[in-house]
Amino acid sequence: MTVDATRVLRELYGAELTRHADLYRQSNAHRGSHRCDVYPSDPEAAPLWPVLTALARARRFLEVGCGLGYTAALMASAGGPRSHVDTIEDDPLHADLAERAFARKGLSSRIRVHRGTGRSVLPTLRGPYDVIFLDSDWREYPRYIQHLIRLTRKGSVILTANLSPLFGGWGEDLPGKDKIRSFLTKLIRDRRFRTYILPGEWHALTVRV
Ligand SMILES: C[S@@+](CC[C@H](N)C(=O)[O-])C[C@H]1O[C@@H](n2cnc3c(N)ncnc32)[C@H](O)[C@@H]1O
Repeated sequence: MTVDATRVLRELYGAELTRHADLYRQSNAHRGSHRCDVYPSDPEAAPLWPVLTALARARRFLEVGCGLGYTAALMASAGGPRSHVDTIEDDPLHADLAERAFARKGLSSRIRVHRGTGRSVLPTLRGPYDVIFLDSDWREYPRYIQHLIRLTRKGSVILTANLSPLFGGWGEDLPGKDKIRSFLTKLIRDRRFRTYILPGEWHALTVRV
């Protein structure tokens, strides 16, 4: 008999798995019509945000790659009413749709969408951030390292998505594996950080030490 892991997770986590699921669904529907790369995070990863928030005692969150706002909304909910999220989005339509969603959800005062690429916006931000989520074009990631150093403090947590092309998962045929390798090599060798790459998921979990 095969195990339905999603069903088990649903039983265990209940409503935590469906928080802001409307944005998850909208992102998937939007991708079909816009033919873009707005792949939202998996709802099964939703319970990760309260865990990272507790680990880092997080009040300030930063995201590169807002999409339609699903993960930014999860971060804002995990951080609670005194938290704030800065999220960066390069596609103006995604930024518009995310801002509309945050307004609908009463989150506009706590989530700010910065328009532009990560590499252009990061230099304008001031830290420290407690939790950072990288979910944009991996070919920019090596340029982010200097900002990760500047924008974190001891105990800050960084989650990096979109590493799969290097490990033979989705995106295996896409360009930029060398950029992912360079990013991970720098991060892993930098003594200011400790990094664990989650096999299968191919996310990197990093702590500033
Ligand atoms: C995977 S989606 C983000 C999904 C979102 N984090 C979520 O889980 O709902 C990637 C988003 O990053 C944006 N993006 C791509 N390259 C970017 C860059 N260099 N800087 C900022 N945003 C970028 C895309 O337009 C897209 O909306």
